[in-house]
Amino acid sequence: MKIIMLGAPGAGKGTQAAKIAAHYDIPHISTGDIFRANIKQGTELGKKAKAYMDAGALVPDELVVDLVVDRIGQDDCAKGYILDGFPRTIPQAESLTEALMAKNEAIDCAIDVEVPDENIINRMSGRRYCPGCGATYHIVSIPPKKEGICDNCGAELILRDDDKAETVKKRLEVYHDQTQPLIEYYQGQGKLRAVDGTKPMEEVFEAILHALGE
Ligand code: AP5
Repeated sequence: MKIIMLGAPGAGKGTQAAKIAAHYDIPHISTGDIFRANIKQGTELGKKAKAYMDAGALVPDELVVDLVVDRIGQDDCAKGYILDGFPRTIPQAESLTEALMAKNEAIDCAIDVEVPDENIINRMSGRRYCPGCGATYHIVSIPPKKEGICDNCGAELILRDDDKAETVKKRLEVYHDQTQPLIEYYQGQGKLRAVDGTKPMEEVFEAILHALGE
């Protein structure tokens, strides 16, 4: 199963991608998490990506495409994978389609998690991120068992640098301008499935499984 998660920043792509990956036992590949891990490790890629991310802009396509194409070629992706945060522009989607076609493969499904802009700012200010394992929480709707501490790895949870209200507004603009056109792109390929992301997390997950034919 090869799945793409689409949706605005904060729509719940990462939350749902983690659940889908566990359900199908396939890798969850988040480009945002890959960049954040590189920033934490101080790599050249991390240094380049940080300036774009902090400004709410997209990292240039040339820094993303090869990285993802290489990642999905690894052995653990043989059964499939879920892409969270990639593709994010039409050129990225076209590069992915071409790279898969060269192997006689294609994406099975692109899931669009729909959440209106007005819900997003509130979600982002309440989001807490685990820099240890990448898990995501929300202080009201999906709190950790112990306040401020990751359930999975015990690390201290943080507010992401790019979750400040001003940066979120910029990220939403960038989403509408550069990423939303992908909805039409995958609709045109008959691959798009939309789910209502304003529902509680478990209901969204059930809707996604249904969209995937379960
Ligand atoms: P990335 O990390 O991918 O950020 P994003 O797409 O903006 O998405 P988010 O991680 O902010 O949100 P999400 O949809 O995963 O929501 P979540 O599940 O956390 O990318 C960050 C940056 O990296 C980009 O801005 C860009 O600079 C760069 N980048 C990454 N990929 C790139 C690419 N391909 N090309 C170029 N640049 C790239 O949920 C949000 C909150 O809501 C959480 O608190 C969660 O607990 C809560 N929540 C989730 N579901 C529900 C629900 N049903 N009800 C209530 N609360 C919920």
